[in-house]
Amino acid sequence: MKRYSVLDFKSAKGRQKITLLTAYDYTMAKLLDQSGIDAILVGDSLGMVHQGFNNTLSVTMDHMVYHTSSVVRGTQHAMVISDMPFMSYHLSPMDAVANAGRLIQEGGANAVKLEGGRDIIPQIEGILKAQIPVMGHLGLTPQSINRLGGFKVQGRLPEDAQEILHDALLLESAGVFAIVLEGIPENLAQLISQKLHIPTIGIGASVHCDGQILVSHDMLGMYTESSPRFVKHYAHLGDTIQTAVKSYIDDVRQQIFPSPIHTYKGQKEVLNLPEREVKYVD
Ligand code: KIV
Repeated sequence: MKRYSVLDFKSAKGRQKITLLTAYDYTMAKLLDQSGIDAILVGDSLGMVHQGFNNTLSVTMDHMVYHTSSVVRGTQHAMVISDMPFMSYHLSPMDAVANAGRLIQEGGANAVKLEGGRDIIPQIEGILKAQIPVMGHLGLTPQSINRLGGFKVQGRLPEDAQEILHDALLLESAGVFAIVLEGIPENLAQLISQKLHIPTIGIGASVHCDGQILVSHDMLGMYTESSPRFVKHYAHLGDTIQTAVKSYIDDVRQQIFPSPIHTYKGQKEVLNLPEREVKYVD
């Protein structure tokens, strides 16, 4: 099966909802890929769900390259989009192009994602000139939590909604192939999705978006530190893992594991082997 691409994003708008999830490692990427997901985001959310920080700001380019290449090795069908981490595109367009290039060349990603609107148009244009597809990200942008005052829904007031819509239109005319809309009200997500010709991908942005993304660790019930209203738990793998680990601990303590079927047999002469003299050298 051929890999999902920017062309599939384009043709899906208005026809079929696009499905995305995050992954940070080979095994999860392979499971998502084999389940038929359209695209995988190697999100900088890895700073929280993989590294245990309480935000995404400490994620570096080296982390992103490492995790992106693991995810790429686990996929055959899904398009892989890699997040540009905090400070990897803020200094200059040249920096942005070089760092986006690393995610493609060293990580093997098919596209990159940047958070922000009008302020990063020169960076987006530079990356696009290097023939690298760009996904935008507006609304609740986690790399801006210090400015936003936390993980808060954005665009509730008409004047704030207007700014987000304006940014979305600017990103579209700059040439991004899709925009993630995070943590915005339903009516704003609907308006933006209607106005744009490119797909919108929602996370906490209602059913009106052209596709949806969730953090895998959230939807699988593995990351329980926070549970935003927009997360649906499709499994409770955290509980499943703990139950399994408790059984393992009990089995080992009661010598139920390893059982004969988990054990290799040697020839019985092994038990009668003569002992060799052991010489200790100081
Ligand atoms: O880092 C991430 O996982 C993201 C998604 C939540 C959209 O940006």
